[in-house]
Amino acid sequence: GFSWKLADHPKLPKGKIVAVVVLDGWGEANPNQYNCIHVADTPTMDSLKQGAPEKWRLVRAHGTAVGLPTDDDMGNSEVGHNALGAGRIYAQGAKLVDLAIASGKIYEGEGFKYIKECFETGTLHLIGLLSDGGVHSRLDQLQLLLKGSSEHGAKRIRVHVLTDGRDVLDGTSVGFIETLENDLSKLREKGVDAQIASGGGRMYVTMDRYENDWDVVKCGWDAHVLGEAPYKFRSAVEAVKKLRELPNANDQYLPPFVIVDENGKAVGPIVDGDAVVTFNFRADRMVMIAKALEYEDFDKFDRVRFPKIHYAGMLQYDGELKLPSHYLVSPPEIERTSGEYLVHNGIRTFACSETVKFGHVTFFWNGNRSGYFNPEMEEYVEIPSDIGITFNVQPKMKAFEIAEKARDAILSRKFHQVRVNLPNGDMVGHTGDIEATIVACKAADDAVKMILDAIEQVGGIYVITADHGNAEDMVKRNKKGEPLLDKNGNIQILTSHTVHPVPIAIGGPGLAAGVRFRKDVPEGGLANVAATVMNLHGFEAPSDYEPTLIEFIDN
Ligand code: 3PG
Ligand code: CO
Repeated sequence: GFSWKLADHPKLPKGKIVAVVVLDGWGEANPNQYNCIHVADTPTMDSLKQGAPEKWRLVRAHGTAVGLPTDDDMGNSEVGHNALGAGRIYAQGAKLVDLAIASGKIYEGEGFKYIKECFETGTLHLIGLLSDGGVHSRLDQLQLLLKGSSEHGAKRIRVHVLTDGRDVLDGTSVGFIETLENDLSKLREKGVDAQIASGGGRMYVTMDRYENDWDVVKCGWDAHVLGEAPYKFRSAVEAVKKLRELPNANDQYLPPFVIVDENGKAVGPIVDGDAVVTFNFRADRMVMIAKALEYEDFDKFDRVRFPKIHYAGMLQYDGELKLPSHYLVSPPEIERTSGEYLVHNGIRTFACSETVKFGHVTFFWNGNRSGYFNPEMEEYVEIPSDIGITFNVQPKMKAFEIAEKARDAILSRKFHQVRVNLPNGDMVGHTGDIEATIVACKAADDAVKMILDAIEQVGGIYVITADHGNAEDMVKRNKKGEPLLDKNGNIQILTSHTVHPVPIAIGGPGLAAGVRFRKDVPEGGLANVAATVMNLHGFEAPSDYEPTLIEFIDN
């Protein structure tokens, strides 16, 4: 029968302290002026690269290597950390939703049946991120869901749109809204009362994560549910065009708005008897709004009204909390993650990041499962992120504090694995501020240095890698790789992730002589890291894990 017991590694010893560092948004690309990692002073990461090919290599971090539909899909932190922690490649939310829609199974499932119960007398509300970024949601899936829902009896539909500019170019939200409006008008021609009802920028409205700032979710609640917002417009295209003119506004950071009728009345508040679907497939930025929509007991903000609705997520977002309880598509069944195995095999684990990435090294790492496997064996430390700022004004973020916690955990010798996420390259890269991203990359490099120094002191091992690219390329390029210019001759800033591979480096005084990267897994990706880390803890990985990246050469 099944056993959690891992076989001993034939050569590698147990008991070493292993630091696992994930640099968020740190890919490998050509050195040029838009590669902030190259431009920044990063002596630590540069010196690790000198260890190639035996102690440094690249791994795939995008597309099919991490369970996304195609190799045109850039990597992201959910799929990246899932792969790192689970050691296997799962078809991820984006792909599972594609399949469920293509086969029509989405309309036969329990979740859709549940929301359909409201179609006769209530309104169907769809809330989510409006773009083709493919990280949290996809416009084409929303379009198909709208069509399918109306074919399955939805007579009144309201869409609540969160503008992107973070997984796609800034300024593209207007086009996405025009596409959506066109679809809605076609539905209206068929007699469906379909409109956009409210919206706002994803970083200000609804899509907070890891309980960083409940005010963001409250803004969304007020706009989507109560029909209240500081800005009122007759059309969403007009809303986005006007709001983008506000100082410092862009697609990511638009204030909340509601769409009103000719009498100034909100066209689509959520009321008793309505159905609500949050159409993002990705979990982290939907958990908070899901709690507000689902939990009877809720004290994070005053909801004013708590309508009796049938609510379903596109996916179930939290496997431990079973949240939401209704969903249209079953999430990937990520089980037997490396974290759970290691805890069962006596590995004491410490994990840390700051709030905006805390769930990445805990929740995502553990297969979208909140909490500990065994609190006696694990300690997860969250450093509060600064709130209410864009991280280009604070590009060092909490890198130093995270490294300090990791250092202390290593020097305490209380843990076998000390795992951190360093957010800088990603969070500052997403702002599109090149100067700030250069500062961010240096801060992350300094943090790595602190952790390597601690590993040196305890005779430990380090594994330094990343979850996907971002800071290594800050400009949109054509197929030939040349920077693209906008109408005014300025370069088009790339705020999103990339399809580049990421580095992985191993080393430290505890690394047995004779360990090196093998040459026979050239296509290796993030999912190969879990087996590698298990080996460094002195265990063989389970047989269904992706193969280890390392080999042991007897001298
Ligand atoms: C976000 O949610 O901030 C971005 O869409 C993706 O960034 P992440 O995958 O690095 O978290
Ligand atoms: Co990111």
